[in-house]
Amino acid sequence: MSRTIFAANWKMHHGPAAARELVRAVLSRTTPQEDRLLLFFPPAVSLTAVVEASRGRDDVAVGAQSIHWEPKGAFTGETSAGLAKDAGARWALVGHSERRHKFGETDAETGLKVAAALAAGLAPMLCVGETLAERQAGQMEAVVRRQLDAGVGELDASALSAVAIAYEPVWAIGTGVNATPEDAAAMHRAIRAWLRGRLGAAAPNPVLYGGSVSPGNAASLLAEREVDGVLVGGASLAAESWVAIVETACGVGGVG
Ligand code: PGA
Repeated sequence: MSRTIFAANWKMHHGPAAARELVRAVLSRTTPQEDRLLLFFPPAVSLTAVVEASRGRDDVAVGAQSIHWEPKGAFTGETSAGLAKDAGARWALVGHSERRHKFGETDAETGLKVAAALAAGLAPMLCVGETLAERQAGQMEAVVRRQLDAGVGELDASALSAVAIAYEPVWAIGTGVNATPEDAAAMHRAIRAWLRGRLGAAAPNPVLYGGSVSPGNAASLLAEREVDGVLVGGASLAAESWVAIVETACGVGGVG
């Protein structure tokens, strides 16, 4: 059955104790539902705490915010996909705009990371999205297609089917200015067209929207049939706003 995905990207917030407390607060205020997945992306140091705090809840999964593409070795400060898996992660974000724009992650590196995630048994969620200048120049669909080509374009059909895509326009992240539901839906259609071009009409990939999602706009974004979930930064950091998003949006959206 299709599930709406509510993904929380905590970025560089919440060590193990705060992570445990937040997950417990969220889970005590939500009941498991078959048609929704609560997905937490804590900092690497808090992966295990979130896994432990969510044990017994089939509607919850945990992911790494970033991984390195090498399986092991002299890469000080990095986390391999295998290490994240050992800590209990089931997902990995790849190519978040902060990785691309603040840490210089390249399109080619996103392809290596997606492949490494799949090889380790993690489900990759590839983030794509244009800058404001690219949107103003009418380049948004071309940019996203380029990011898809580089990030997941080399995968065979079965590997590609295991990938989720998050459309996150750079100008909407952390700014309080979200894409309108119509603009988000238009970009999601372009992403789905790319996926269908590879996988046919049955392309199963969830396509999430991210960028200033809040309790006030989540329901209208998820009401677009092209929007299969949300990837949320700021509003996922406190139980109250996160539960409000999950509950407000309940029963709308979903893959397909
Ligand atoms: P935001 O971040 O919800 O704070 O805009 C979204 C993200 O970076 O994934």
